[in-house]
Amino acid sequence: MTILVTGGAGFIGSNFVYMLLEERPDSKTICVDELTYAANIHTLNDAMSYDNFVFYKEDIRNREGINEIFGKEHPDVVVNFAAESHVDRSIENPAIFLETNIIGTAVLMDACRKYGIERFHQVSTDEVYGDLPLDRPDLFFREDTPIHTSSPYSTSKASADLLAVAYHRTYGLPVTISRCSNNYGPFQFPEKLIPLMINNAINDKPLPVYGEGMNVRDWLYVKDHCYGILAVLEKGKAGEVYNLGGHNEKANIEVVRIILSELGKPETLITYVTDRKGHDQRYAIDPSKAMTELGWAPTTMFRDGIKLTIQWYKDHMDWMQECTSGDYLKYYEKMYGNRQ
Ligand code: NAD
Ligand code: DAU
Repeated sequence: MTILVTGGAGFIGSNFVYMLLEERPDSKTICVDELTYAANIHTLNDAMSYDNFVFYKEDIRNREGINEIFGKEHPDVVVNFAAESHVDRSIENPAIFLETNIIGTAVLMDACRKYGIERFHQVSTDEVYGDLPLDRPDLFFREDTPIHTSSPYSTSKASADLLAVAYHRTYGLPVTISRCSNNYGPFQFPEKLIPLMINNAINDKPLPVYGEGMNVRDWLYVKDHCYGILAVLEKGKAGEVYNLGGHNEKANIEVVRIILSELGKPETLITYVTDRKGHDQRYAIDPSKAMTELGWAPTTMFRDGIKLTIQWYKDHMDWMQECTSGDYLKYYEKMYGNRQ
């Protein structure tokens, strides 16, 4: 079995690559990644020493380059993680989100049609459902919840989902989609809430909390997400959508306080800043379809996963420094410099 993973030098994709190398040693894993700002090639250092791992630096929007890789490797399964993934960046510059997340997905699916595959899996997000009100804890996202997006990012992901469903219906492409809640764990780029707050706290810098910090996210440890995708690949049905999440809802301020407490840093570092435009209130997944039909269930509770994650960043400050040198400083100044 040859499995082509796009976006494998990013956060979730790299965790997925390592899971495959460990859990499916008889498979060949091909990683295709353009190496944008969000990637760190050193993340794949260990993977590069495996004989059954191959890396291609390629842009999923480049039809010719993608077709060449498919022609050479003939993947049986394609898992598409490659994306522009940060909501705040999509508010600043939507265009690249449309290009990578929509056009890039179409290029991959066209290659799948041309060369033939057993499965194309689109890694999607719970953000395609929009948000839930804070005062209705009884409501959850189900697979039949209507698509109702808020940001350019979530709209680009929803567009890719619709295109994947259309390729299944029109061309019979064996497509599956998983929609997951917020991930956390090793190798996450420090523009996202948890690694950004860990990095700032370690360096005694202010922790910028948007609005009043009451927005709720449903946290899933990244390894649980990877096993969920594997379950969809091996037990899921073509044409189906599966929600992945673990009922770990937390208000942002609660997460920030836990990080400070774990690191022994004072709450005076918390700084309330201007809210995100169009900020989604609450995400909460109902994962019962994946649990019942795939036998999948997350195994890491937030209280354990956050400790593992903080320890990982403390042990890998060199990795963090590689990410935060260069353009990161410009990004940080632009996004947070004037945010009172
Ligand atoms: P990430 O930003 O950490 O990594 C994205 C990777 O894609 C990077 O390695 C980048 O270099 C690569 N990439 C970007 N544009 C590319 C292009 N044109 N061609 C080839 N490679 C390209 O993202 P992530 O957090 O690991 O998310 C992975 C996927 O999971 C995304 O599709 C995202 O929408 C989805 N998702 C993320 C979360 C989360 O909490 N992080 C939750 C649910 C779903
Ligand atoms: O739900 C899945 C989605 O989760 C994925 O599809 C996205 O790719 C991923 O980035 C994530 O989106 P969020 O917007 O929820 O994640 P982010 O880490 O950017 O923000 C989490 C919450 O924390 C959100 O309510 C905004 C807030 N926040 C974020 C940052 C970066 C802050 O208060 N301060 C910050 O500095």
